[in-house]
Amino acid sequence: MTKVAIIGAGPCGLSALRSFEQAEKKGEKIPEIVCFDKQEDWGGLWNYSWRTGSDQYGDPVPNSMYRYLWSNGPKECLEFADYSFDEHFGKPIPSFPPREVLYDYILGRIKKGNSKNKVKFSTTVTNVVYNGNNFEVTYRDKKKAASSTDIFDYVVVANGHFSVPFIPEYPGMKAFPGRIMHSHDFRDAEEFRDKNVVVLGSSYSAEDVALQCHKYGAKSVTIAYRHNPMGFNWPEGMKEVYHLDRLEGNKAIFKDGYVQETDAVILCTGYLHHFPFLSEDLKLNTGNRLYPPKLYKGVVWQNNHKLIYLGMQDQFHTFNMFDCQAWFARDVIMGKIKVPDNSEIEKDINKWVSIEEKLETADQMIDFQTEYTKELHTLSDYPKIDFELIRKTFKEWEHHKVENIMTYRNKSFSSPVTGSIGPKHHTAWEVAMDDSLKTFLNQPEK
Ligand SMILES: Cc1cc2nc3c(=O)[nH]c(=O)nc-3n(C[C@H](O)[C@H](O)[C@H](O)COP(=O)(O)OP(=O)(O)OC[C@H]3O[C@@H](n4cnc5c(N)ncnc54)[C@H](O)[C@@H]3O)c2cc1C
Ligand SMILES: NC(=O)c1ccc[n+]([C@@H]2O[C@H](COP(=O)([O-])OP(=O)(O)OC[C@H]3O[C@@H](n4cnc5c(N)ncnc54)[C@H](OP(=O)(O)O)[C@@H]3O)[C@@H](O)[C@H]2O)c1
Repeated sequence: MTKVAIIGAGPCGLSALRSFEQAEKKGEKIPEIVCFDKQEDWGGLWNYSWRTGSDQYGDPVPNSMYRYLWSNGPKECLEFADYSFDEHFGKPIPSFPPREVLYDYILGRIKKGNSKNKVKFSTTVTNVVYNGNNFEVTYRDKKKAASSTDIFDYVVVANGHFSVPFIPEYPGMKAFPGRIMHSHDFRDAEEFRDKNVVVLGSSYSAEDVALQCHKYGAKSVTIAYRHNPMGFNWPEGMKEVYHLDRLEGNKAIFKDGYVQETDAVILCTGYLHHFPFLSEDLKLNTGNRLYPPKLYKGVVWQNNHKLIYLGMQDQFHTFNMFDCQAWFARDVIMGKIKVPDNSEIEKDINKWVSIEEKLETADQMIDFQTEYTKELHTLSDYPKIDFELIRKTFKEWEHHKVENIMTYRNKSFSSPVTGSIGPKHHTAWEVAMDDSLKTFLNQPEK
């Protein structure tokens, strides 16, 4: 029997488990599957942990999630085709849910089946080598402090790529008397109440960490971009300036001459694709981009078609794209999809990479990833979902952010699965301090 190892039980690993479960339901004979996760439970980074640094076993904490995080994109864009929000919550819910609500949804469909008994929790995959025929996978049970090696025919790498922080150094950091941290370790904006905060970066973490600090009472928030400013109309108390030059004592000095006294510097400088458990010949080497090279259909490792990567792209689309990837990967593993010859693979990868390299605007990037996901969707029996509506929703969302970065999360969109429209939330995001599932779902009756 074919044996498959899935590394990670975050959203991508769960998509893989779900894809096999669905095939089994249709009466197909599925491979033997073992999923490994180094955390105690599934859900990946949505499984919020207060811990930073090391876990209780001395391993690095993979989680970059924080308290008070709300979805930064409309939930309609990430909805599962085979399990709508309406089905999970029994009614339509607003378009921008907080973490606990999304976590509940992500787990909802998988909890209904028996996939949990396929997962080895608190188990870290430490080594994967290909011996010419199959993979030797070594893993460590952290509770028992015991290592084992098993043989697998296929390996699915689903360990995420927003866990290992990229941490640059700027002059003056060594002598800075305040706090320096990466967004990976950011857990609670309340810590920065009444503080002057400097945020480095110009992408989603910089935007959201800065907004969080502002919302929970920071005295000032100064965001420093390196290449392109985000350029939103920031509320009073926030500003965006050009690139940090150095720290001098407690002063941050920027390249445009601006000087700001600061208590904390938060590095929102992105993450590394990090695969310490893979032998060098199997490692994907990429930055955070929409089409990492060497992956056929963004999934199958060019040099070894028994190695699958899920979710390694920079992400507009998330959960339903992961599903399309997982369904495609499942069919490759089960022999229903034949991977073409090397020249065809090379041509296909080069086509996507060369289009990606010319993208300039957010709308073009949305179009690119929508086209990619739509193509994958046609290649498997992943259920019907309206990707054209998702494309339109992403573009409207981008424009709402430009209109007002404080209010874009108060907008409503319609579901690409059921067509229902997200009701307006009872409390505007900028003043909603309680992000619990109970409070969020407690919508007033119409
Ligand atoms: C702060 C933050 C906020 C985000 N917010 C949103 C959002 O609002 N909406 C959205 O759609 N997306 C969001 N994302 C994007 C996020 O990438 C996806 O939502 C999703 O979590 C990716 O799933 P994944 O399975 O690829 O990775 P992860 O969620 O990171 O899961 C990977 C899993 O692999 C396990 N693992 C890693 N290494 C090993 C190993 N060696 N052995 C065993 N197990 C291992 C980890 O323990 C983890 O459980 C956010 C990302 C970050 C960092
Ligand atoms: N739900 C939410 O609200 C939420 C919140 C946070 C994060 N997220 C998600 O988390 C994921 C990761 O986002 P991310 O912003 O952490 O990573 P990212 O998108 O990869 O962005 C990395 C940022 O770091 C900057 N940078 C890199 N090196 C730098 C340096 N030496 N000095 C200054 N700036 C530097 C880059 O700037 P350049 O452009 O100049 O290279 C870029 O702005 C995304 O999927 C996002 O959606 C979601």
